[in-house]
Amino acid sequence: MDINKIREDFPILSEQVYNRPLVYFDNAATTQKPWPVIHCLEEGYRRHNANVHRGIHFLSQTATEAHEAARARVRDFLHAASAEEIVFTRGTTESVNLVAFSFGETFCREGDEIVVTVMEHHSNIVPWQMLCERRKMHLKVVPMNDRGELLLEEYEKLLTPRTRLVAVAHVSNVLGTVNPVGEMIAAAHRRGIPVFVDGAQAVPHLKVDVQALDADFYAFSAHKVYGPTGLGVLYGKKRWLEQMQPYQGGGEMIDQVRFEKTTYNALPYKFEAGTPDFIGTTALAAALDFVETLGMDCIAEYESQLLHYTEERLSALPGLKIYGQAAHKSAVVSFRMGDIHPYDTGLLLDKLGVAVRTGHHCAQPLMERLGIDSCVRASLSFYNTREETDILCAALERIRKMF
Ligand code: ALA
Repeated sequence: MDINKIREDFPILSEQVYNRPLVYFDNAATTQKPWPVIHCLEEGYRRHNANVHRGIHFLSQTATEAHEAARARVRDFLHAASAEEIVFTRGTTESVNLVAFSFGETFCREGDEIVVTVMEHHSNIVPWQMLCERRKMHLKVVPMNDRGELLLEEYEKLLTPRTRLVAVAHVSNVLGTVNPVGEMIAAAHRRGIPVFVDGAQAVPHLKVDVQALDADFYAFSAHKVYGPTGLGVLYGKKRWLEQMQPYQGGGEMIDQVRFEKTTYNALPYKFEAGTPDFIGTTALAAALDFVETLGMDCIAEYESQLLHYTEERLSALPGLKIYGQAAHKSAVVSFRMGDIHPYDTGLLLDKLGVAVRTGHHCAQPLMERLGIDSCVRASLSFYNTREETDILCAALERIRKMF
């Protein structure tokens, strides 16, 4: 991959902060946008803006066609069996809430169980906890080892006749662990249990095939895969989505509305109340074109090399401890440097032009398991370079000396 040429596609990467070149290592929080995505948003509002699925006029029809073509593009990207299985949401968080509510309403009863893992982001914990509180159910948690790998034997022991669903991250946003979701899905399916996969941190970095995984549900956010913010995707197998209650009521999701009784629209519209982000969906399609033109395999290979280089350089810094040493890892390095508080490290790195995230990373139960309250996280993208890793390391060395 010609990284310098790729970087030219991302205008923000040539910005300066505090008169220094921006080094952006906060890609797990959100990714930067390439010109095709920015142009698509601008063109959408400038030339193609009209509400979808409603108007008989030209603009509305072309906007509807573009929006549905974007759905087909997502179907193709995830290799879903049909576009009816692709629901547009506001993001991964809304996708989890949708399933927790709608699946829960239809399939969950008092005394049932939901299985999550210790490394989940809050958005893949709290909606399930809320369901458990509503229905008087139990939340079970899969433990991990000190390298940040899930204990699969323990996982299998947690699957019981009362387990209604397993919810697991494909890739941990803190540890970078790529979880063996295929294996976990197979183990759940042997017992007739469906699996929800939070793919927010996986989709930007590796090729995902929901049919090969046999996932029942798979969610991701557009803004983490170089697309616009405020938009997400829920993939769900038709057999589940068909049986599930709607999530929100409103326009789009209805068939016939009468005061006595309302009937609901076909899939996927049953789960898409209100005007969708039809400009955003076309920009997401442009983002997916962008990454697939680079090639998901090339992205994974380049990021893996950069991850190894970054881990090697960071490990050589005195007192620096990396959290997350799984055998199969994606492009995230979380660490602490001696006694220096992660917040101080992050603030000083910022002043030196390096953007990282610090804190609990919306994974407080994981922090508790690691015995820390927070850490610094450098999350990489295919547009990052070894030179940027060197800048990060030199900045950390400088901070260490200051303390
Ligand atoms: N979930 C995003 C992160 O981990 C915001 O940074």
